[in-house]
Amino acid sequence: MMDIAPATLVTLGSPSGVAREASERISECLRRAIAARGAATLALSGGTTPRHTYELLAEAQDVVWSAVALFWVDERAVPPTDVRSNYLMAFSALVARVGLDSRRVWRMQAESPDIDGAAVEYARLLRSQVDADDEGFPAIDVVVLGVGIDGHTASLFPGESTVEQREPLVASVAASGVREARLTVTAPIIEHARNVFVLVVGEEKRPALARVFSAQGSARATPARIIRRCRGSVTWILDEEAARFNG
Ligand code: 6PG
Repeated sequence: MMDIAPATLVTLGSPSGVAREASERISECLRRAIAARGAATLALSGGTTPRHTYELLAEAQDVVWSAVALFWVDERAVPPTDVRSNYLMAFSALVARVGLDSRRVWRMQAESPDIDGAAVEYARLLRSQVDADDEGFPAIDVVVLGVGIDGHTASLFPGESTVEQREPLVASVAASGVREARLTVTAPIIEHARNVFVLVVGEEKRPALARVFSAQGSARATPARIIRRCRGSVTWILDEEAARFNG
C-alpha cells in the first residue's frame, strides 16, 4: 500500500486542549531546531483553529524568537491590514507579542496585482531562506496546517490543478464564488517539511477526516491527503468532536 507515513494522532477533550498541546509540541520543535542548527523555520496557516495556539506559543518559554524565520502556508488576496489576512491574524496572535526579527517575517504578498509573480517570488524566497533537504526541496522545521470541511489544506482545494502543482513551489489560486484569490504553498513544501502539525476541531470536520484517512481516495478530491506523503514527522491534534470521524 501506498503512501501513509507514520503519523501521531493526539486527541484532546476541547479546542483549548488542542491549542495547549499544539503550542507545547511546536515550541519543543522550534527549541530543538535552534539547538541543532542555530535557527528555525516556521510556516503558519490561517483559519480560525490555530489562533489560540499562536497566542499560547507567544507565551512559550525558552524559544529564541530572534532565531526563528516565519513564513505563511497561504494567504488571501487582501491587504495585510484586512481582517481576513492570515498575516494579520498571526501578527496579532504571535508576532507582535514576541521578539521576532522583522527581517525574518516573510508574509505572502497575495494582494499584489501580479499574483502569479508574487507566487514565483515567494517560491524563490522559500528556496533562498530555508535549508534544502537531500532531495533539494526546502525543508521547513514546522508547518502548521488545518483541514477544511471540503478536505482542503493550505489553499489547495478539491479538484483544482494546484493540488498537483510541483513548480513553482507556491501557487496562485483563482477566486471562486465568494472565495477570494489566494497564494498557497504547493504539495512539495508540505511533503518535505521536517515536522507537520495538523490542528482540527469540530464535528463538521469528521467527513473530511474520514476521507483523509480512508484507504481509498485521491489528493485531487481530498487535498489534505497530501499530508500522508510527508517525509518528516506528522502530528494530528484533534478535539474529541473531530476525532470521532470513523464512527
Ligand atoms: C486558511 C487556511 C486553511 C485552513 C482550513 C481550516 O487560511 O483558511 O490555511 O487551509 O487551515 O480552512 O480552517 P479552520 O481552522 O477555520 O477550520
